[in-house]
Amino acid sequence: MGGLRVRDIEFDSNVFLAPMAGITDTVFRQLIRKYAPKAPLYTEMISSEGLAVKQDIVLVKAEKNEYPVIYQISGHKPHLMAEAAKILEPRATMIDINMGCPVNKVVKGSDGSALMKNPKLASEIITAVREAVNIPVSLKTRLGWDMKSKNYLEFSKMVEDSGADMIMVHGRTRSQMYAETANWEEIGKVKQNVSIPVIANGDIVSVETAKKCLEISGCDGIAVGRGTLGDMELIGRIESYLKDGVVKPPPTVEDKLKTALEHARMEIALRGERVGLKFMRKFFAWYVTGVKNAAKYRFELVRVEKLSEAEEIFERILEEQKTGVL
Ligand SMILES: Cc1cc2nc3c(=O)[nH]c(=O)nc-3n(C[C@H](O)[C@H](O)[C@H](O)COP(=O)(O)O)c2cc1C
Repeated sequence: MGGLRVRDIEFDSNVFLAPMAGITDTVFRQLIRKYAPKAPLYTEMISSEGLAVKQDIVLVKAEKNEYPVIYQISGHKPHLMAEAAKILEPRATMIDINMGCPVNKVVKGSDGSALMKNPKLASEIITAVREAVNIPVSLKTRLGWDMKSKNYLEFSKMVEDSGADMIMVHGRTRSQMYAETANWEEIGKVKQNVSIPVIANGDIVSVETAKKCLEISGCDGIAVGRGTLGDMELIGRIESYLKDGVVKPPPTVEDKLKTALEHARMEIALRGERVGLKFMRKFFAWYVTGVKNAAKYRFELVRVEKLSEAEEIFERILEEQKTGVL
């Protein structure tokens, strides 16, 4: 594991938790932090329009033990993006601008990866945010809008020239969404093209893929998203491998279910039992990946209305793992 200097901030780790809307909330980040003591953690994306009007407490909440925390903002109006960055500055280690989100709802409003098609506006946003805050400003993007318009070289140069201090590249185009595999070689071309730190992202799901991505891309760091779903220890394992070459074992089914319950208890404390358990449905499904009869348990878990019901299902899962009997 290497440190990473971004503007005047010295990060002790170059393995980042990637931002995931509806996932990387304060609870998720605290759980990642338990196993990864140094990793910089991204928030979910926060709409600059929403934030400038009313602060969503759940979205902006962060506990002391989560830091360093990078707050990601989305939007396309430079003055609102600057305003949102200013509001978040007292809480944030760094502000990140979302220019990579591919979902229709976001790109229709000219936000996210739609900004890759409008470098002039993208540059105005970066400049406005850069001028609004004193902390580092980063940007997250993709390789381009589609295969015919991969503009990552011009775009990354523009990002640097507009004043951003770091760039993260997800190695796919917008039109690929999450299909095919991330192209780490092309992310490496961005690294060659700019002098600010470049973080590689996409398809890092293990210690081995983390190592391979760093080797192929030559980047300053990596960011892990979906690989953490159901495996809160992954970033910690990568950190520890990069630091001293030790490959720790992945969590057992028992470890995962213990974490799932801790996750659920924390979400319930944050959101209340009904909303918290509803929010947990997708996570429960990930936590039981790989257990025997996972589909059957998923069916039950997405219907629980009380934490005690989830606890009872987990006990049955553990029993079945031990005995092999239903
Ligand atoms: C459910 C989900 C939500 C996401 N939300 C965001 C987001 O809010 N902002 C962002 O920049 N990227 C978002 N992403 C993209 C991830 O940060 C990351 O770039 C992508 O998943 C590829 O990395 P991975 O293969 O490690 O998951 C999201 C991805 C997923 C799967």
